[in-house]
Amino acid sequence: MRIQETCHDSFLLSGIGWTPYRNIYRVDGLHMTQGIVIEGLDVWFGEHAERVQAVKGVSLEVAAGASVGLVGESGSGKSTILRALTGLVSTWSGHLQVDGETLGKRRSRAFYDKVQMVFQDPYASLHPRHSVDQVLSETLALHKLGDVDRRIVGLLEDVGLGRQFRFRYPHQLSGGQRQRVAIARALAAEPSILLLDEPTSALDVSVQAEILNLLSDLREQRQLTYLMVSHNLAVVAHLCESIAVMQNGQLVETLSVQDLRAMQATEPYTRELLKSSMGYVRSTQRADDSQTSPAN
Ligand SMILES: Nc1ncnc2c1ncn2[C@@H]1O[C@H](COP(=O)(O)OP(=O)(O)O)[C@@H](O)[C@H]1O
Ligand SMILES: [Mg+2]
Repeated sequence: MRIQETCHDSFLLSGIGWTPYRNIYRVDGLHMTQGIVIEGLDVWFGEHAERVQAVKGVSLEVAAGASVGLVGESGSGKSTILRALTGLVSTWSGHLQVDGETLGKRRSRAFYDKVQMVFQDPYASLHPRHSVDQVLSETLALHKLGDVDRRIVGLLEDVGLGRQFRFRYPHQLSGGQRQRVAIARALAAEPSILLLDEPTSALDVSVQAEILNLLSDLREQRQLTYLMVSHNLAVVAHLCESIAVMQNGQLVETLSVQDLRAMQATEPYTRELLKSSMGYVRSTQRADDSQTSPAN
């Protein structure tokens, strides 16, 4: 599944060959399952009068191998859900579970062997004075993985950069190349789950689709599970099979990408989101099967 170099809402409903829909659903009972289970998640910041209830009673399951998009307007609580999962926020209640294991407030190293996160801004997420080699070696050391040379070269090839990028520093890389390094760093731990927070929205439009294609290829090659936040329905429709819609900290609807393309949302808010993307439906189909060049 490839798309052209521009990536915007025009890809919504575009009939690209989506992989089969795997259901996500609210869970009634907790059960041993591979993948992510979120039940009754509340997350808050601050206390008393200052308290912000960022996430309210969200339940969501991402089965192993599935790719679920979390959409909704800015401030609706999308990033906060990922941050609670990765242990970056500890003011939460409810039930979080990964591969059958219930999560507490602190994450073990074993958790990060399994779950890695890719952030929105590749400029902020790479240390300016660390070379690509340092970034990847440190991650491999942290996860006690040997055979460092082979792994680093392999990772750079897997993300479409190649070994010539190994000793570069962030200022010697474009935004897209930096995001490829950030993805390589996430993959270095050999995780089965990637949490992606707006992984393309800080990038030039011309580079966004290449990163999306890369994520799509990596998922297929490595059988990864994705939970991806985006405010862009087109991005989510490209990479995910199902979509969870957030509004004001609540999950208001889950639907398949097929339903999305068929405009079969039932909740008024989702219908509004869809309507705002309707102008792009005209430009469907044209994006299919085009190849893109690597490493921008
Ligand atoms: N560290 C924080 N301290 C206080 N409020 C926060 C913090 N992080 C997020 N929030 C608030 O929580 C709500 C949800 O934020 P966020 O999850 O970042 O939204 P989204 O990712 O959907 O744009 C917003 O009202 C935001 O202002
Ligand atoms: Mg966010």
